[in-house]
Amino acid sequence: MSVFSNKSDGSGAGSGAKGFREAKGNLSLDSVTKQFGDFTAVDDLSLEVPRGSFFALLGPSGCGKTTTLRMVAGLEQPSRGRIRIGDTDLTGSRPYERPVNTVFQSYALFPHLTIVDNVAFGPKRRGAKDAAKLAADALELVQMTHLAARKPSQLSGGQQQRVAVARALVNRPEVLLLDEPLGALDLKLRRQMQVELKRIQTEVGLTFIHVTHDQEEAMTMADTVAVMNLGRIEQLGHPEVLYDLPKTTFVANFLGQSNLGTGQVTGTDGDNLVVEVAGTTVRIPKERSTVSDGAITFGVRPEKVRISDTQPEGAGNDVKAKVVDVSFTGVATQFLVTTPSGATWGVYEQNLDVARNHLRPGDDVWLEWDSGHAFGVPVDDAGAAAGAAAADEDAAQPVAAS
Ligand SMILES: Nc1ncnc2c1ncn2[C@@H]1O[C@H](COP(=O)(O)OP(=O)(O)O)[C@@H](O)[C@H]1O
Ligand SMILES: [Mg+2]
Repeated sequence: MSVFSNKSDGSGAGSGAKGFREAKGNLSLDSVTKQFGDFTAVDDLSLEVPRGSFFALLGPSGCGKTTTLRMVAGLEQPSRGRIRIGDTDLTGSRPYERPVNTVFQSYALFPHLTIVDNVAFGPKRRGAKDAAKLAADALELVQMTHLAARKPSQLSGGQQQRVAVARALVNRPEVLLLDEPLGALDLKLRRQMQVELKRIQTEVGLTFIHVTHDQEEAMTMADTVAVMNLGRIEQLGHPEVLYDLPKTTFVANFLGQSNLGTGQVTGTDGDNLVVEVAGTTVRIPKERSTVSDGAITFGVRPEKVRISDTQPEGAGNDVKAKVVDVSFTGVATQFLVTTPSGATWGVYEQNLDVARNHLRPGDDVWLEWDSGHAFGVPVDDAGAAAGAAAADEDAAQPVAAS
């Protein structure tokens, strides 16, 4: 009881031996590893999530996202490493001793209780006198006040999801963990709830850690995205920065699409690296490459590439190609082309003109881009393939399609 009363709405501050409710600040994971037998599910993972931020953990199925969340929640203990909130070391403590709540994809509501009783359950159990008020406030926050008297079976999936969020928020956790919370919703509702969750997070100002395999969801919602692969963080940063400048082939292919080509650095030209890719010379700004000599993978995003049937004038970043496919999508036209090296590239062109695009499969074309948009990453064919496969798998799921 002492622990639960300590978890109350703040009136318990100072009571209880452990005092975890007062753990406030950034969430930090320090070299956290989780092994299941010989298998390493989370591999020496370190990160710091600023207090009050919306943080997304993005990665393909099986990369260790849920295991990471479970360790933060205390449902699983790390094999090595520490987990802290502010100055308080939470490693080894029980779930109920942590100022952390989790929203699961399965909602996990009590079927026999009304919505308001579901939400009031936590505060009541820890003896909060104002449980009813806390529950009412939480329901208002998720805009479910009007359905408070219903049972969970009388709600839609999206409504149940809101209740699950209210039931976690009512405990006023320092950190809210969301494990693929929108996975069971259809696309339209999923998009609505993304906006809604972002609004709630901004309103309550709590730290949200949102786990998803949907790159668009992560990019639209989060202040910071950590891309995970094989139990490690490949790259972490603001979504726009990650998209603009991927540091690995996995990130280049998993977060949006990339046109990649493997070559050799042959020299420098001012602030650029000069790179030979399949007989073509291209330039990459030195500051946009994690490789400075030897083998390199060159990359450029599809919307940064221009396509034309005449050779562009001006310096160098162009390559001849043949059109394989043209698909008109309304706002844009997507081209698939093959380069002389046999690589397939995508080109994404906004339909700014009323004139109908005249390029057809079989046409010879030139591709051109500003060298300032190119990036260089270490050669890692396995990483590139894994990133592309994971992105395809994601797109193949109806809820994640866009
Ligand atoms: N209790 C467990 N025992 C053994 N292996 C596990 C256990 N929990 C998770 N794993 C394995 O750890 C890996 C990461 O799982 P998980 O964290 O659930 O991935 P994600 O949530 O990213 O899909 C998977 O290969 C999974 O099979
Ligand atoms: Mg999972």
